[in-house]
Amino acid sequence: MKAVVCTRYGGPEVLEFRDVPMPEPKAGEVRVKVMATSVTSGDSRLRAARFPAGMGLIARLVFGIRGPRQPIFGTEFAGVVDAIGADVRRFRPGDAVMAFPGGKMGCHAEYRCVAETGPIALKPDGLSFAKAATLCFGGSTALHFIDVAAVASGGRVLIVGASGAVGSALVQLACHRGAQVTAVCSARNADLVRGLGAEAVIDYATTDFLGDAGAYDVIFETVGSITTRAALPLLRPHGRFVAIAAGLPDMLATIGAPGRGGRRVIAGPATERPEHVQQLADMVAGGMLRPVVDGTYGFDDIAAAHAYVDTGRKRGSVAILLDPAARA
Ligand SMILES: NC(=O)c1ccc[n+]([C@@H]2O[C@H](COP(=O)([O-])OP(=O)(O)OC[C@H]3O[C@@H](n4cnc5c(N)ncnc54)[C@H](OP(=O)(O)O)[C@@H]3O)[C@@H](O)[C@H]2O)c1
Repeated sequence: MKAVVCTRYGGPEVLEFRDVPMPEPKAGEVRVKVMATSVTSGDSRLRAARFPAGMGLIARLVFGIRGPRQPIFGTEFAGVVDAIGADVRRFRPGDAVMAFPGGKMGCHAEYRCVAETGPIALKPDGLSFAKAATLCFGGSTALHFIDVAAVASGGRVLIVGASGAVGSALVQLACHRGAQVTAVCSARNADLVRGLGAEAVIDYATTDFLGDAGAYDVIFETVGSITTRAALPLLRPHGRFVAIAAGLPDMLATIGAPGRGGRRVIAGPATERPEHVQQLADMVAGGMLRPVVDGTYGFDDIAAAHAYVDTGRKRGSVAILLDPAARA
């Protein structure tokens, strides 16, 4: 089968198409023909070895010193089950599914095997493969941090980077919990985030919001534009600053310090839970969540998709179509 392989860190030009062995489903696994996948900020960061501040050495130890240890990127996909291993009960060949291998990656390929008890769910009817393939990276991250930050009904929540894959999911999930959401984004994305449920929108290019002392219960930071020191005064007592694009200073700040009035810093990788995939599918089917897809690229144009994601300016997610029918 055809796969996109990255054996050294660098620009989008390091990506190569290669023929790799077709995966065979083991007992308890399904093999899925990938109809669509995504290029996420995570794929872009890893390819470029553009790790958060102070995390370069740790990240290279985890992901590979000279080049990525897992050469096939892609954290999420949607497709059709084409083969099943022994003892599989939940799925049958022909089922339309969405899946989130997450940090294990390997989705920028024509086929991917997943354990039937793993991060996989039936694709909601009426949701295109392209949209289903872009739901989990931002959605699962948002589900994790919304829970850890204990976003509650009536709480005041600030979301910095509300127009990205993670931010657009956070806005919707926080609104669904009954929080009052203020979204920070550029003027071109104001209508998008209002449409997702934000009550107030701040254009970061024209408005300094760092003076809103004690205004928020929770701040989600998905860009890395606000330091912990600047964020803590914006929180009410016992408020939470969630540094999703955290560098080492934010990680160290999670340890806590006296004089913060119970204000906490939350940072670190989101926990990927298999049940998130079903939860996200159910939320879409129930009209509580809608995937935001910025644009689609053909599989052959995946390097161009990487170049676009590298800009850090995408709205929601970028889908890669392995089959043109995935768009519908
Ligand atoms: N901790 C974890 O487990 C975890 C998991 C997933 C992702 N992440 C990290 O979370 C971050 C966000 O990921 P993503 O996929 O959502 O990114 P993304 O889709 O690339 O989103 C970036 C968005 O932020 C906006 N933006 C840029 N500068 C801004 C600013 N100063 N203020 C407000 N908005 C701004 C951009 O639009 P404009 O340029 O038009 O403003 C764009 O829509 C990444 O650093 C990623 O690595 C962490």
